[in-house]
Amino acid sequence: MAPTSTILDESLAPEGERKIEWVASHAHSLTAFARRRLSDGSLRGRRIAIAVHLEAKTAYLAWLFREAGAEVAVTGSNPFSTQDDVCAALVRRGLTVHAIHGADAQTFDAHLHKTLDFGPDLIVDDGAELVTRLHESRRDLLAAVRGASEETTSGVLRLKAMEREGALEIPVIAANDARCKHLFDNRYGTGQSTLTAILAATNLLLAGKTVVVAGYGWVGQGLALYFRGFGARVIVVEVDPFRGLEAASVGFDVQTMADAAPAGDIFITGTGSIGILRREHFEVMKDGALLANSGNFAHEIDVAALSQIAVEEREARRNVTEYVLADGRRIHLIAQGALVNIAASDGHPVEIMDMSFSVQALSVHHLANHAQEMKPGVHRLPADIDEAIARTRLELLGMHLESARPEQEAYVRSWR
Ligand SMILES: NC(=O)c1ccc[n+]([C@@H]2O[C@H](COP(=O)([O-])OP(=O)(O)OC[C@H]3O[C@@H](n4cnc5c(N)ncnc54)[C@H](O)[C@@H]3O)[C@@H](O)[C@H]2O)c1
Repeated sequence: MAPTSTILDESLAPEGERKIEWVASHAHSLTAFARRRLSDGSLRGRRIAIAVHLEAKTAYLAWLFREAGAEVAVTGSNPFSTQDDVCAALVRRGLTVHAIHGADAQTFDAHLHKTLDFGPDLIVDDGAELVTRLHESRRDLLAAVRGASEETTSGVLRLKAMEREGALEIPVIAANDARCKHLFDNRYGTGQSTLTAILAATNLLLAGKTVVVAGYGWVGQGLALYFRGFGARVIVVEVDPFRGLEAASVGFDVQTMADAAPAGDIFITGTGSIGILRREHFEVMKDGALLANSGNFAHEIDVAALSQIAVEEREARRNVTEYVLADGRRIHLIAQGALVNIAASDGHPVEIMDMSFSVQALSVHHLANHAQEMKPGVHRLPADIDEAIARTRLELLGMHLESARPEQEAYVRSWR
């Protein structure tokens, strides 16, 4: 093992290698962009630190940076999504890795710091884990960092809060805000992978069940769509009147959590906020209610409160914790309230991450070439790059776009 890495067991590498190869054989857009753009020499000698859910798709992205000539250090953005065999394979391929599945909070923090110790000049972040630490406790490393790209909604919110306070000192591309990211990854990726994770964890039927989806943003829309597709009745809980109305307009019931709590069989949070499922909700839920989170880290479900009111706690199945309440009712929490689609499954489908990581790869490439012209703050990926990813994906699907005729373009631009 490279002396600088911290992983569980390097002998797990063959299985991790198979997983990475599977991704490589399906991530056609990312491979195409690596050949067309990353290979132009602008990543040669760069030091890239990555803190993203550490499974095979992330590993493939890290590997393409390495193939483009960069030195790469990788850690996970949540210890429950880290796959030890994938970490082992990356170390065998010569990358620096600090990540172990299921690490406690202190060890996870240490892994993030070790990844910063690597001394990056470019960062790929998820949830702003590296960028916030860089600005708070690792300011010694800040001057060397040209820029970062951020994977998810919650991270972008944190970065925008830093920007508002004048605390963000580097340019960050909000990869999440690219249309090729949130329109597909947050919606269809989370929809499919959350559904498959819950099915794998429980082996239960969805048809005829009542599923309560908290939040009807991109993530919530995907959840509601996929669970309805499997025959569930969906109740949406929202705070935003437009999003609530959108949910109502496609036939979902919109209720408060207080009303939905006694009605639901399965509860899934996807708001990006905290304390969505709380003690007063657990107290009125049906026996056997299932809880899962697909939104903000591990804070959407108040797991501490659930644990407090439980008289007994046991592992009912792999990835399912059963809490027995004083009156005998049982509540089942999947993946300890961490992101269910990643902690209890392999995360988004490969083709979804093919697009999201094309956004990340081209964001890093853009930063490598243009960071010096970008002010500190949160930036969007240039629209032409976003569009190039969508066009490439459509081409790979064998689909073709119509081109507007010159007279049509002139017509829509004119006012007479
Ligand atoms: N599981 C995954 O793989 C995955 C993928 C992408 C995003 N995410 C995370 O999912 C979360 C949501 O992302 P998004 O892109 O859908 O964001 P979004 O901003 O589009 O949607 C969030 C929705 O939640 C609603 N909301 C906020 N507080 C609420 C409350 N107290 N009760 C009910 N609804 C509330 C908002 O009004 C909004 O409509 C973020 O934390 C994001 O980081 C997870």
